[in-house]
Amino acid sequence: MVLILETDRLLLRNWEEQDFAPYHAMNNDPVVCEYFPDLHTEGQSRKVIARYREQEQREGYSFQPLIERATGAFVGDIGLARVEFDAGFQGATEIGWMMQRQFWGRGYATEMARALLDHGFAVLGLTEVIAFTVPANARSRRVMERLGMMPDEAAGFDHPNIAEGHPLRPHVLYRATAPSAPGTVEPA
Ligand SMILES: CC(C)(COP(=O)(O)OP(=O)(O)OC[C@H]1O[C@@H](n2cnc3c(N)ncnc32)[C@H](O)[C@@H]1OP(=O)(O)O)[C@@H](O)C(=O)NCCC(=O)NCCS
Repeated sequence: MVLILETDRLLLRNWEEQDFAPYHAMNNDPVVCEYFPDLHTEGQSRKVIARYREQEQREGYSFQPLIERATGAFVGDIGLARVEFDAGFQGATEIGWMMQRQFWGRGYATEMARALLDHGFAVLGLTEVIAFTVPANARSRRVMERLGMMPDEAAGFDHPNIAEGHPLRPHVLYRATAPSAPGTVEPA
């Protein structure tokens, strides 16, 4: 099963072969990948997509292609995904995003992320969604803040998949809580 979501300007759909070229190009744009430890070979890009699709089959959701409805263009990838690495919150659901540079500055990441959070809470029954990045990734942190996610200062962590001593290893963590989950205040 795969999530199909539509917003005013965007569509989230299943991976198609035509997504590979723009996805791989995005993974090799040094500006897009400024806060990632490596650029990807073609084989690595294919492996990542295969892992997302496998996770989608198993969990019902993962990172998926983000499409501009007006043009059909591949914007990037975005999704809810179970955290598989162990940094104290394995099995939690994260939200993440990555877009080709020409689509930055239009509110696209926030638009689909908002729809994904709503879907995650209302349909999938999630009680919490987390997001994380390196402290210097201001654009990604601004998306988290625009979504109303709260920084958890005490929950900063070293990413276990990044080598010890690497400057991109320390991460900040943000949380979004389901509207009806305990500890949140319902509007009167
Ligand atoms: C992180 C990333 C997805 C954010 O992209 P973005 O375009 O800055 O974020 P949004 O799509 O939410 O757009 C918000 C921007 O669009 C502007 N905008 C323009 N039209 C808008 C609209 N209709 N609605 C909302 N915002 C709009 C906002 O003012 C904002 O710009 P600002 O932050 O300069 O003030 C993008 O920078 C990226 O792909 N980075 C590389 C990959 C990466 O680091 N991913 C995160 C890993 S943790």
